[in-house]
Amino acid sequence: MSLERMRDWVFELPDQIRIGLERAEARGWPESIRAATSANAHAMFVGGMGGSAVSARLSRALLIDSLRGSVEIGSDPHLPGWVDGETSAGLISYSGETWEVLALWEQLASRGALPWVVSCGGELAERSRSTGAPHLLVPPGYAPRAAFGWLLSSVALALAATGGGDAVPSVRSQLGEAAAALAEEREFWRKGSAGAAGRDPEALASALAGRRVLVLVARESDLALAYRWKNQFEENAKQVTQVVAFPEAGHNEIEGWARLGGGEVVFLETPARAGEPARVARGRDAALEAVLDVARQAGLGVHRVPTAPGSRWTGFLSQVFLADFVSIRMAEQRGIDPEPVPVLGSIKDAVRRHLDPGA
Ligand code: PA5
Repeated sequence: MSLERMRDWVFELPDQIRIGLERAEARGWPESIRAATSANAHAMFVGGMGGSAVSARLSRALLIDSLRGSVEIGSDPHLPGWVDGETSAGLISYSGETWEVLALWEQLASRGALPWVVSCGGELAERSRSTGAPHLLVPPGYAPRAAFGWLLSSVALALAATGGGDAVPSVRSQLGEAAAALAEEREFWRKGSAGAAGRDPEALASALAGRRVLVLVARESDLALAYRWKNQFEENAKQVTQVVAFPEAGHNEIEGWARLGGGEVVFLETPARAGEPARVARGRDAALEAVLDVARQAGLGVHRVPTAPGSRWTGFLSQVFLADFVSIRMAEQRGIDPEPVPVLGSIKDAVRRHLDPGA
């Protein structure tokens, strides 16, 4: 049954991260990227869509203080004008067949910026093989969003290897430590235990299934996490979910909250970044508590979700792990099969028919 398969895949996350690191290492992955990119690279473009792109967005969030330059993650098939032959570039598509990513390949190649590639095969793998671009094949047979651990370990290493690669050893140890900690939390959930207060997957799924859900994080640099929750609720539980772009939302969106007619705000705690100025931290906390108060007064439910204990990487990834499991339980409670995404597939088919009518 595909519900069971999805749950098994979710529970694989710690193993995918751990084994993904070993596989990447065995294939000389970060080294091949380091060799192919300039040690002075200060800008990087990474293209991808949906469940594939999220691995880059979350890697960038985790590496925010150690990246050597800015990383733009693009999900539009038209490459930005600033990308040229000097830019470090990467493309991620689990299937290797996504038209937006193939279009980006063509534009990158024509500008002389040969990208590294992560996929399980497909046309993208063919193109990178024929041009000699660094390419890491991840295991086939998954729904793209359920291959997250394979993608994350590959992409985090790729970002860390760009521009000199100083962050690679730390990525290895942080991901390894996080994988071990997530495996412990998995044991609680497997036994059907509620786990830590505020992190009970059953309670969260019951409170959120079928409701209007708004997901909030405290830092713009952590926004990718809120997007993972949104995407998992949307693809697995087929439930449209909104991301609250804090702190920006405190300057506009919250004016309309009282008129939403109800809903549930999920506030995902995230570990603090090192070196945040004290005044910024105090201001952020005050703004956050004020925003949560506005939510309560507007009649919205507020669910504060703590991280699992451990390092910043462990805490952050524990929130991804929880999103994945909660979304499966929501689907189950609503009688929905979380694996198939036929509507999403119909959009891909429509583009294929239009761009390639003879195929
Ligand atoms: O999770 C999914 O299935 C989607 O969001 C896909 O990741 C998205 O459609 C892009 O496909 P791919 O990951 O194969 O490039």
